[in-house]
Amino acid sequence: MGVRHDNIRRLINVNLDFDAGETFYIVPWSDWHVEAIDADEDALFRHAEIIGRTKNCYTFIAGDMVDAIGHRDPRFRRTPIKEWFVDATIHEGEEPGAVLADFIAEEVLIKAGIRREKLLAVGIGNHEDSWLKYHHVDIGQLVADRMSVLDRYGGYAFDLKIGFTYRNASSKTGTSCSFVFDVHHGWQSGRRSGGLANQLELELGFSNADAAVRGHVHKKHVFPFDCRWIGNKMDRDWPRLGVVSGTYKLGWREQSPSSHAPSTYELRKGFRPAIKSNLGPPVVVLRPQVGTRGSQPKIEVGWLDSVDTLAQLTDN
Ligand SMILES: [Fe+2]
Repeated sequence: MGVRHDNIRRLINVNLDFDAGETFYIVPWSDWHVEAIDADEDALFRHAEIIGRTKNCYTFIAGDMVDAIGHRDPRFRRTPIKEWFVDATIHEGEEPGAVLADFIAEEVLIKAGIRREKLLAVGIGNHEDSWLKYHHVDIGQLVADRMSVLDRYGGYAFDLKIGFTYRNASSKTGTSCSFVFDVHHGWQSGRRSGGLANQLELELGFSNADAAVRGHVHKKHVFPFDCRWIGNKMDRDWPRLGVVSGTYKLGWREQSPSSHAPSTYELRKGFRPAIKSNLGPPVVVLRPQVGTRGSQPKIEVGWLDSVDTLAQLTDN
């Protein structure tokens, strides 16, 4: 018997109970960049609040909650970051990694009503990775700890399996089904949406996940891929999704008359700014079906273009 090669990816298992006809909203959330000056914190808070108050709405984080510039970085004083972060780290002398983790746990998540039950997993991106490398602090792990979900901390890439258990299961009904997200913070895969779609289609070929979620590119997309599942005794439709999870980083800043006009990375590189009405992630909609005995329960799969659309749908 050979030595088993342990995969670097973690499988995070969570379970949700459901009644017939119940709908679940899963928000794949990434690229907030909270201490960056062009991060739209108002939109972030608004979306957090919607996730917090909406029944059956859950989320997981896919990295870049923070920006990479810390106080030991020579660019710290030359880089446009939020005033509160400068105050806490320079004037009050707080440990900046801890300041960021506290801000995320307390000001973004808990204040909005997102407690550990709603936070299915926490992952990191290249910006948290920089904090780890240059400041020896794992902000993702700190956030997971502050939120009491250390057992659901996934690092840079993880698989999240959501099991749905039917509340009134009997011998006549199917009892459970699941939906698996293959989550990776992401990488640049072409500046245009065709490159993203092609890459996600490839990614889905590497595993049997139901959805592949990628961040990093600061774009928002859902690409449906209709597949076939071939089992021993039957085959069935297998709706799969490629999800690109958006951002709150606008890519520009308002110039104040007194400022020495610091610019963001995006501005220096000549990127077009993000569209304000298009900020944040899309929402994956899952409706687990009650199967009859012998037939595998299925999940109806859909999506919404934004968290604001979710609010419009569920608030009345
Ligand atoms: Fe990012």
